[in-house]
Parts: sequence; C-alpha cells; structure tokens
Amino acid sequence: MNVAKETAGYTATQILLHWVIAALVLFQLVIGEDIKPAYRAFSQHSSPQNDDLINANIHVYVGLLVLLLALWRLAIRLLRGVPAPPPEENMLFKRIAMATHFLLYLFIFGMPITGALAWYFDLDAMGEIHEFAKPIIIAVVGLHAAAALWQHFFVKSDVLVRMLRPAKQRMS
Ligand code: HEM
Ligand code: HEM
Repeated sequence: MNVAKETAGYTATQILLHWVIAALVLFQLVIGEDIKPAYRAFSQHSSPQNDDLINANIHVYVGLLVLLLALWRLAIRLLRGVPAPPPEENMLFKRIAMATHFLLYLFIFGMPITGALAWYFDLDAMGEIHEFAKPIIIAVVGLHAAAALWQHFFVKSDVLVRMLRPAKQRMS
C-alpha cells in the first residue's frame, strides 16, 4: 500500500482503529461458523431458530462495523498518510510488507462485502469466496504479526512501538 503520503508516525486514531479492527476481525474468525445455521435456514426458505438468528445478527453487525471502520481508516491513510518503512529494511522486505498491508486492506473491505452479498442477496458464490478467504486471512495475519514481533525483538526497529504509541508522544 504505497499510495499515501509519508508521516512521522501514526496518530492515536490510526492506532486505535488498527487494534479495534484487528480485535473485531479475530472475533469474526472465531465465531464465523455461528452464522451458518441461520444462513442455511434462509437459503432453504425456512425460519431459523431464535438463538441462531441472534448469532447471525452478531456476525452481520460486527462485520458491517469492520467495513465502516475500514472506510474511516482508509480515508485517514489517503488524506494524512502513514510512516515510511524503516530505512534500514531491505527492498525485498519492504515489498513483502507493502503487499501484506495491501492484502489486509483487501480483506477488511472484501470480507464484509462478500458476506453482505451472500446474506442479503443470497449469492452462494459470494458465500463460498467468503469462506475460502478464512484460512488465507489467518495465514496473512499470522505472517503480519510474526513480522511485527520479529522487527521488534530481533531487528529492534520502532515498527511495533509506532503502532502502539502516537507519533507526537514519542521521544524520537
Ligand atoms: C471482517 C468481516 C468478516 C469476517 C472476518 C468474517 C468471517 C467469517 C467466517 C470465518 C465465516 C465461517 C467460514 C467457515 O466456516 O468456513 C463466515 C461465514 C459467513 N459470513 Fe462472515 N465475516 C465477516 C463479515 C460478514 C458480514 C458483514 C456478513 C453479512 C452481512 C457476513 C456473512 C457471512 C455468511 C452469510 C456466512 C456463511 C457463508 C456460507 O456458509 O456460505 N460476514 N464469515
Ligand atoms: C486482523 C488483524 C490485523 C489487520 C487487519 C492488520 C492490518 C494492518 C494494516 C493494513 C497495516 C498497515 C498500516 C496502515 O495502513 O494502517 C498494519 C500495520 C501494522 N500492524 Fe497490523 N493488522 C492486524 C493485526 C496485527 C497484529 C496481531 C499485530 C502485532 C502482533 C500487528 C502489528 C502491526 C504493526 C506493528 C504495524 C505497523 C507497520 C509499519 O508501520 O510498517 N497487526 N496492520
């Protein structure tokens, strides 16, 4: 995602949005299967049980909240920008980080959109893409988190710290 201006660091809002979205996506991955009984019932034109409907609504509204927060986050990124990758990082790792961030944005938009198309318009193909993405997201988020921890503990760059503390409050 090298489409934004470069800044000294992330703002408190950017940091809050990053971690709230991350928590909500992880929640969705864990409870994702709970929407299936109600989805199957609607697909077969029958009425889901009350508990199944409540579970489905939680998945739907948490997912739509992710979409809303992702829009806000992308707007800030485009208007204000994000910090440059650490200068000491080699070109290959910079490219991998950029591609990973691009994929993560694709997921936080793509998952709610494909889910909504399956849920509201009964488009099975969208439901299948939505399900197919699950292991890919887990792999990409795993790579992303491992890279952040590796940067912090082995490379000792400020990459993790700048996603925890807003730019103005940092000493450097
Ligand atoms: C960040 C947002 C979201 C994530 C990470 C997510 C994740 C998941 C996961 C992990 C599953 C279960 C897949 C499986 O068992 O293999 C699932 C199923 C499903 N989700 Fe989502 N979801 C999100 C947003 C939404 C939204 C906003 C809607 C609807 C408005 C939605 C509708 C569905 C439906 C209909 C299914 C069942 C698909 C099927 O059985 O074919 N999802 N989701
Ligand atoms: C579903 C979970 C996650 C998503 C969707 C996500 C998404 C993103 C995205 C898109 C960026 C690029 C910055 C931006 O444009 O806003 C980013 C940066 C970052 N993320 Fe995540 N992230 C997730 C989980 C995590 C986890 C678990 C960690 C740490 C263990 C982490 C650590 C970081 C760090 C340190 C940065 C800053 C990288 C830099 O400034 O170069 N993220 N994340």
